Amino acid sequence: MRERADVREVGPRDGIQMVKTILSAEQKLAWCRAQAAAGMRHIEVTSFVPPHVVAQFADAAEVARGALAIPGLKPAVLVPNLKGAQRAFDIGVPKVNYVLSASEAHNLANVRRTTDESIADFRRIVAERDARGLKGRVQISAGLATSFGCTIQGTVPESRVVEIAGFMAEAGAEEISLADTVGYGNPGQVRRLFDAVARVAGAIPLAAHFHDTRGLGIANVTAAVEAGVRRFDASLAGLGGCPFAPGATGNINTEDCVFLLESLGFETGIDIEKLIAVRADVETWLPGERFFGMVARAGLPKTFHHAAAA
Ligand code: COA
Ligand code: ZN
Repeated sequence: MRERADVREVGPRDGIQMVKTILSAEQKLAWCRAQAAAGMRHIEVTSFVPPHVVAQFADAAEVARGALAIPGLKPAVLVPNLKGAQRAFDIGVPKVNYVLSASEAHNLANVRRTTDESIADFRRIVAERDARGLKGRVQISAGLATSFGCTIQGTVPESRVVEIAGFMAEAGAEEISLADTVGYGNPGQVRRLFDAVARVAGAIPLAAHFHDTRGLGIANVTAAVEAGVRRFDASLAGLGGCPFAPGATGNINTEDCVFLLESLGFETGIDIEKLIAVRADVETWLPGERFFGMVARAGLPKTFHHAAAA
C-alpha cells in the first residue's frame, strides 16, 4: 500500500479568475467531469464572490449544483465572507474553502477589511454551519493567503501566520491551508512555516497552495511533503492568479505535481495521461492564455510507473 497524497484541482476557480474568456457553466462542468474521470476527487469548482467583483463566477450557483452530481467528486468552493458561505450552505456543497490573507495590506485589497475582521467572520461562518445542522456534512477549510510574503506589503511575519492559524484552529477549521499567493516562498521557508503551523494545528490536516511565479513551486511541494503535508492545490496547465495581488501568476501545474508525488511513491489516484487530454480540450476554450507544464510538453518518461500499478 502506497501512502495517499491528494492533489486538488483549482483550475476552475484560481485558474480562470484572471483569464480573458468567460467560460460557460457547461464548459466548467465538462472540465470538472473530465478531471473526475481522470481520478481527481477534489476540485475547487467555483468561487462565491459577487459577480461585480469577478464576472467569471456569475454562474457559481449553477456550477456548484452541477458539480454535486459528478460521480466520485467532492466539490469545494471558495468563499471570502459569510455571505459567500451562506450561498454555499444553501446548495449543500460538502467543502467550503474560506480565504483570508495573513498580509494586512492584501486582505484590505482582496476582501476590503482587516485580517481581524476576516478572522471574526470565520467564527460566524462556523457558527452558521453548526446552527444549520451541517456539522459533519460540510467541511470548512481556512486558507491563509500571502503566508509567504506579499507583493503589496512585502514581508509577512511568520509569527502572524502562526497566530492566525491558531485562531482558525480554535474557531473550528477542519483544514488549514497555507497559500503562497504571489510565488515568494522558498523550500526552507516552506519547511519552517509548515513545521511551526503544525504545532498549533495539532490533528487538523494542513494543505499547501503554491504559485509557481518564480520557478520554485514544485521544489516547495517537496519541502511541504517533508514537513508532512499531503494535500496540494494545483491548476491544470499552471493557469491561475489573484486579481488583487499585483504580479501574481499561475498556480503550480497539476500534471507536474501529480508526476512529482507519484514519482516520490505516493498514490494520487490520478491518471496523468488523461489529465493531459483534458488540458488539450481546455486549451481550445481559452485562446490567448499561456499553458505551462513540463510533463505535458515532454511526455511521461519510459521509466515512470504509476504508484497504483507499481
Ligand atoms: N456573494 C455574492 N454577493 C455578495 C457577497 C458574496 N460572497 N458578498 C457580498 N455580496 C454583495 C452584498 O450583498 C452587497 O450587495 P448589495 O449591494 O446588493 O446589497 C454587495 O455585494 C456589497 O457587499 P459588501 O459586504 O459591502 O462587500 P464589499 O463590496 O466590501 O466586498 C467582498 C467584499 C469580500 C465580497 C469582495 O471584496 C470580494 O468578493 N473579494 C474576493 C475577491 C477575490 O475573488 N479574490 C480572489 C480569490 S482569493
Ligand atoms: Zn491561488
